[in-house]
Amino acid sequence: MTASRARPRKFIVGNWKMHGVGAALAEIRAVAAAVPDQIDLAICPPFTLIERAVRAAAGSRLRIGAQNLHAAAQGAHTGDISAAMLADAGASLVIVGHSERRADCGETDAVVRAKAEAAIAAGLDAIVCVGETEAQRDAGDAEAVVAAQLAGSLPAAPDRLTLAYEPVWAIGTGRTPTPADVAAMHASIRAALVARYGDAGASVRILYGGSVNPANARELLAVPNVDGALVGGASLVATSLLAIAAAA
Ligand code: PGA
Repeated sequence: MTASRARPRKFIVGNWKMHGVGAALAEIRAVAAAVPDQIDLAICPPFTLIERAVRAAAGSRLRIGAQNLHAAAQGAHTGDISAAMLADAGASLVIVGHSERRADCGETDAVVRAKAEAAIAAGLDAIVCVGETEAQRDAGDAEAVVAAQLAGSLPAAPDRLTLAYEPVWAIGTGRTPTPADVAAMHASIRAALVARYGDAGASVRILYGGSVNPANARELLAVPNVDGALVGGASLVATSLLAIAAAA
C-alpha cells in the first residue's frame, strides 16, 4: 500500500510554544518572504500573536496556526479559545494533543479527539500529536502506546487531518530516534491510518517532531512515511526554520 502511495508535499510546521511577543513578528515576515515553492510551511505562534502573524504573512504561502483550542463551540470556559475564534483570527490549522498539553493539562485521548473534531468542523486543519515517553520506549511499549493513542485520539474522518509523531523524550532534548526507529514507527502509524480510514489513510501526512534542527532535518525527512516535521525550538528564528524547510 505504501509503495503505490503518491508522495504528498512535505509539511513543515513551527510550534512556538509559549515564546514570542510583537518583536517576533520580524521572524514571521522573514519566513513569509522566503517560503520554498515545493513545500507547505506553517507557524503556530501563541494565541496573542495569531492575528498579527496572519497580517505579517499576508500575500505569502506561510500559513498561521494555533497550538490548542477548546472542543466546545462557545460557552462558560474562562480563558479558553474555540475553533471558530481561531478561524476568525485567520488561523488555518491547529495543533491538538501535544504531549506538553497531555502532561501539563491532563488532556486525554478523548479530549484530543473532541478537539480535533471541533477544529475540523470549523474548517481548520488539525495536527494530532502522539508519542511515547522514554520509560515506555525502554519497556518495548512504544508502538503499543502510540497505537492506543491513535485509537483514542483520531477523528472520525481523515479530511483536514495531519498526524505528528513526537517521542516525548526527544522534545527539547537534542536527542532523536534513529532513522530506523522513526521508519518503524511511521510505518506502524501509516498502517493504523489505512486500517482506520482505508485508502484515504495513505495520504494523511505524518510529521516527525522532537529536536528537529537544520543539521538533522535532511536525514529525518528522507525516512519513508515522514511527510514533514513539527519543529519547536528551531522554529523560533527564521533562518533556522527556513534551513529546515530547504532540507525538505
Ligand atoms: P523541539 O519541540 O523541536 O523543541 O524538540 C518539538 C515539539 O514539541 O513540537
